Amino acid sequence: MKKILLITWGMGYIWSHAVVAFEQAGYRTVIVDNLYNSDLSTYEWIGNILWYKPDFHELDLRNKNELEEIFKKYDFDWVLHFAGLKAPFESQEKPVLYFQNNISGSLNLFELMNTYDVKNIVFSSSASTYSTVNVPPITEKCNQVPETPYATSKFVWEKILEDLSKFSGFRSINLRYFNPVWCHPSGHIWEYLDDIPNNLFPYIFQVLSGRLPSLKVFGSDYDTLDGTGVRDYIDVVDLVDAHVLAYKKLSGITGNFWFNDSFNVWTGKGTSVLQAIDVVETVVWKKVEYSMMDRRPGDIPVSYCNTNKIQIELGWKSLTSLEQSIQNSWKFYNKQ
Ligand code: WQD
Repeated sequence: MKKILLITWGMGYIWSHAVVAFEQAGYRTVIVDNLYNSDLSTYEWIGNILWYKPDFHELDLRNKNELEEIFKKYDFDWVLHFAGLKAPFESQEKPVLYFQNNISGSLNLFELMNTYDVKNIVFSSSASTYSTVNVPPITEKCNQVPETPYATSKFVWEKILEDLSKFSGFRSINLRYFNPVWCHPSGHIWEYLDDIPNNLFPYIFQVLSGRLPSLKVFGSDYDTLDGTGVRDYIDVVDLVDAHVLAYKKLSGITGNFWFNDSFNVWTGKGTSVLQAIDVVETVVWKKVEYSMMDRRPGDIPVSYCNTNKIQIELGWKSLTSLEQSIQNSWKFYNKQ
C-alpha cells in the first residue's frame, strides 16, 4: 500500500517539485494550497511531467473545518509542511499577514495531525532564522535570532514542533535553507510569471525575457568580495531530494520514540549578486541589464553554511551546479 503524504502549499513553484519527486519515489501525494502564490498552470505542469495529476484540494490552512475534511478523507502517513509566505523583505511590510498565514494556519495543521495521529512531519524551515552575527559557514548549532516576521514565523514553527515532539510524540525534521534556484529539468515548472518576483533569479529571468526592464542590485557596500550580497543558491531538485531523505530518516524510527532535529540544506558555497549575474550571462549568452541601488531592508550581507551534518546523517549533498540550475531555468523561460 502506497504511503500517503500531505503536501501543504504543493502548488508553489518550489514545492510542486516535491510533489513530482515523491510521486516518482513511489509515494502518493495529496496537495493542499490556497493558490495565493501560484495558479492551476502548475497543476498542469505537474501532470505533464507525471502523466497524471495527484489529488489537489484548494483550501487555506486557516480554515480548520475544510482542512479537517481532508484528514477525514485520507489516511495520511505523514506531512510535508511548506505552507508559508516566504519573502523576508515583504514580511516587514505585512507582518500580520505573515503571522496569520504562517503561524495560525500551521496551528490548525498541527492540531489535526495530533487528533488524527499523523505525527511524522518534515518542515521547510529557513536559514533566515540564524542570527546575522553568526560568522559563516553557519552550522546547525549557530545562534538563531530571527530578524524579520518571516524568519520569526519559521523560528516559532521550529519551537512548536520541538515541543510537540517532546510532549505529543511527534517526529519532526526541520530543513533550513535559503535560496532555492528552481526549475525542473524538464523546464515545465517555474515561478508564477504574472508576479513581480522578490527573488534574485526569477527577477533576472524576467529581465532577460523582456518582461522587466532591468535588475535593481540591492547594496554594493557589503563587506564582501564585490560589495554585493552573498547567498548559497541551491538547485530545487537537490533541495527536494533532501526532503525525501529526511522522510526516510523519520520512517526508519521504530517504537514510540519522539524525534526532533534540524539540518542545513545548502551547497556550502557562497555566490554574490554580481557573480550570479556573470554566471547567468555566461550560460544564456545574454547581457543582464542592472543598476546598483541602496541595500534592501531586512537583507543580510552574507549567508552560506557548513553541510557536514546532513551529509553524514542523511547522506545528502547537492549535486547540481549553479550553472546547470540556470540552464534548467532558462529552458523554461525560453519557452514562455
Ligand atoms: C538574494 C540576494 C538580495 C532581488 C531568501 C529566499 C526566501 C527565504 C529566505 C528560505 C540578496 C539580492 C534580490 C533583486 C537583488 N528562503 N537581490 N535584487 O532575500 O536571501 O531570501 O531567504 O526561507 O524564500 O528568497 O533571497 O533572492 O530575494 O535575494 O539584488 O531584485 O539577491 O539583496 O543579496 P533572500 P533573494
